This record gives sequence, C-alpha cells and structure tokens, in this order.
Amino acid sequence: MKKVISLLIIGLLFTGCSNDKKPEVTPVTTPEPTIEPTPVPLDHDTYDSLYVIANKTHPLSEDFEPTDLVVPDVLATRDGLELRQEAATALETMFEAAKADDITLRFGSGYRSYSTQQRLFNNYVAKDGEESANRYSARPGESEHQTGWAVDISDGSMNNWLKNSFKNTPEGQWLAENSYLYGFVLRYPEGKEDITGYIYEPWHFRYIGIDEALKIKESGLTLEEFYGYMN
Ligand code: DAL
Ligand code: ZN
Repeated sequence: MKKVISLLIIGLLFTGCSNDKKPEVTPVTTPEPTIEPTPVPLDHDTYDSLYVIANKTHPLSEDFEPTDLVVPDVLATRDGLELRQEAATALETMFEAAKADDITLRFGSGYRSYSTQQRLFNNYVAKDGEESANRYSARPGESEHQTGWAVDISDGSMNNWLKNSFKNTPEGQWLAENSYLYGFVLRYPEGKEDITGYIYEPWHFRYIGIDEALKIKESGLTLEEFYGYMN
C-alpha cells in the first residue's frame, strides 16, 4: 500500500512538471532610438544664402546676382523694382496686412546690382564727400541691396523718404512694430552705427524669414551681434 501511495505522489509530481503551459514572458520591447536632428548652422557666408551677411567687412563679389529676382505685386515708387522670390511674396503679404490697418506702404528700392550701387555711391560722394557718404550709403559689394533680400519702404508721401523723420510716421511706426511678423528686420537701428557701419535707417528692412526675424526682434540685437559677425 505504501508503495502505491508513493507511486501516486511521484505520478502527481510528474504531471505537475509536464504542464504544457508556456511560462508568461514579458515581451522585451526595444526602445525606439531617439534621433535628435543635428542643428544645421545657418550659412552667413554664401552670397546666395537667405542668411548671408553683407556689410563693410563681408562684401559680396562684383558678379553676384540672385537668380530668382521678381517684381513684387505692390505699390512702388517706380516700375520694375525687384526682390528675391521669397522676399517678394513676404513683402506682398506685409503690404496687404498694413493696408488692413489703414497703412499704405510704398516699395522704394529692392535689388541693386554692384554697378548700380557703384553709381549711387559715387553720386553721394560727389554731393557729400566720401566720409559722410560712407555713413549712409554702402560701397559697391557692401550693400545688402545686392543680395536681393533688402528693401527700402516709404510712406508714399515722399516727404519722409530716406529721412530720419520716417520713424515718426504711422507707416514707419507700423513697420517698426510689425515687420518682424512677415520676416523683415530693421537692419540699421538707432544708436548702432558703430556696429552696423550705418546711421539709423527706419526705412531699410532685411528679409530673413519669420523664425529668425522674430528671434532677432526679441533679442534687440543687430544681425552682426545676433550672429556673432562683429569682425
Ligand atoms: N543705405 C544702405 C546702407 C545701402 O546703401 O545699402
Ligand atoms: Zn536700403
């Protein structure tokens, strides 16, 4: 009898061990690799770049001319003024937004070739002398207008055109407050002549894209300071 009981117990033990149920396995999930995109540094040195810095210490070559110049569909002081495509579209949007606020803007100058800038600079030197001209007009190759991203805007009356007083007009004030929303920065702010190389120009704006324009506006810095292009 004892033997029978022992066999039964062994039998039961084996039955328990030969359970077909697979042990529960917690699935091992391989974590997705988190790939952080490497920030691409903005290109300030290629003439064709949206972020190019053109100034007295970083001149453009004589033969540089953007390939996508177009005439923006806006009110202008004369026919045929051009900008690069992206800046032209942004200018159209900005002029429409200004109009909705009862502000009439007028496009006064956009792309200028090296030779046009040479002619302008020579005229200013003849009128005011080289030292004075150099404070408000770029030498050929040193003008942001040659990049196709720069624009001069007037209030349409011409009384304040290319004058410091433009800052006091509703148009000048509207631009100072709102141009950043459309990707344009006030390029030569008041009190920054030692950094930009030019006197305050409340009419001159530089298209650099909305993201950068907002950051630059927030910083209160010039392009040279913001991007570390002081030399
Ligand atoms: N007035 C600006 C500095 C230019 O001539 O490009
Ligand atoms: Zn200008």
